[in-house]
Amino acid sequence: MKLTIDTDNNKLTIQDAHGVSELDLYSKEAFEQISRQWVKVGWNEKYSYTFSWFGRPIIQLPEDLIRIQEVIYSVQPDVIIETGVAHGGSLIFYAGLCKAMEKGRVIGIDIDIRAHNRKAIEAHQLSPLITLVEGSSIDPGIVAQVKGHIKPGDKVLVLLDSDHSRRHVLNELLAYHDVVTPGSYIVATDGIMADTFDVPRGTAGWDEDHPANAAMDFVKLHPAFKIEQPAWAFNESALSENITYWPSAYLRRMG
Ligand SMILES: C[S@@+](CC[C@H](N)C(=O)[O-])C[C@H]1O[C@@H](n2cnc3c(N)ncnc32)[C@H](O)[C@@H]1O
Repeated sequence: MKLTIDTDNNKLTIQDAHGVSELDLYSKEAFEQISRQWVKVGWNEKYSYTFSWFGRPIIQLPEDLIRIQEVIYSVQPDVIIETGVAHGGSLIFYAGLCKAMEKGRVIGIDIDIRAHNRKAIEAHQLSPLITLVEGSSIDPGIVAQVKGHIKPGDKVLVLLDSDHSRRHVLNELLAYHDVVTPGSYIVATDGIMADTFDVPRGTAGWDEDHPANAAMDFVKLHPAFKIEQPAWAFNESALSENITYWPSAYLRRMG
């Protein structure tokens, strides 16, 4: 695809397999096209590896954090489960939201919680709201251990951010979907792999092997879940699409 930004004439020209089309540069459609390319280039440049939250590295696109904040504030979960801890920044982010809401706690699962990361998470002022579980997120013993931390009646939201292969994410969806409360979500993050298989830092095969496909595989088996971008809590624009590393990520439990 060839994108030409003409700031003299306020046009965006798109040349692809479908032909050539021209958009007003200052339009919703042009913003979406440019954003999609910006996300790809930023992903390649490891833009998401440049942020921290309350002192801990957080490997996320900031826009995704604002959007998940909107969802968490709307759902008001008692328990947030996240697979994939890494340095702990996202756990700290979710725990901070719980602290501010005076509601909720966080369970983080990682196959390898490095000693320095565990030490920093356990020393953090938000650690009383965090439970760490070490092991593979799809190991039946680990799944049972995580579920053991959920009390009857708890409202639960789940985020999947560990191994992003289609098979692993599908197995995580199968393992954890039953704890998700109706109206809440299980979020299969990083479907951006579908768009980044062809960038220099990407991997051939990701065009098929990615979390968004796992989400689609899952909803065929479990129609009580629907893939939908949560409604924005505030919008005084004509825009409607998340700028995101998490396309097709939000699976809402309908009933
Ligand atoms: C993308 S990082 C998580 C980033 C973190 N959520 C954040 O926002 O900063 C992925 C993590 O998943 C963990 N992981 C990989 N395979 C796993 C598995 N089978 N079970 C649990 N964790 C796994 C890795 O050890 C790594 O720490």
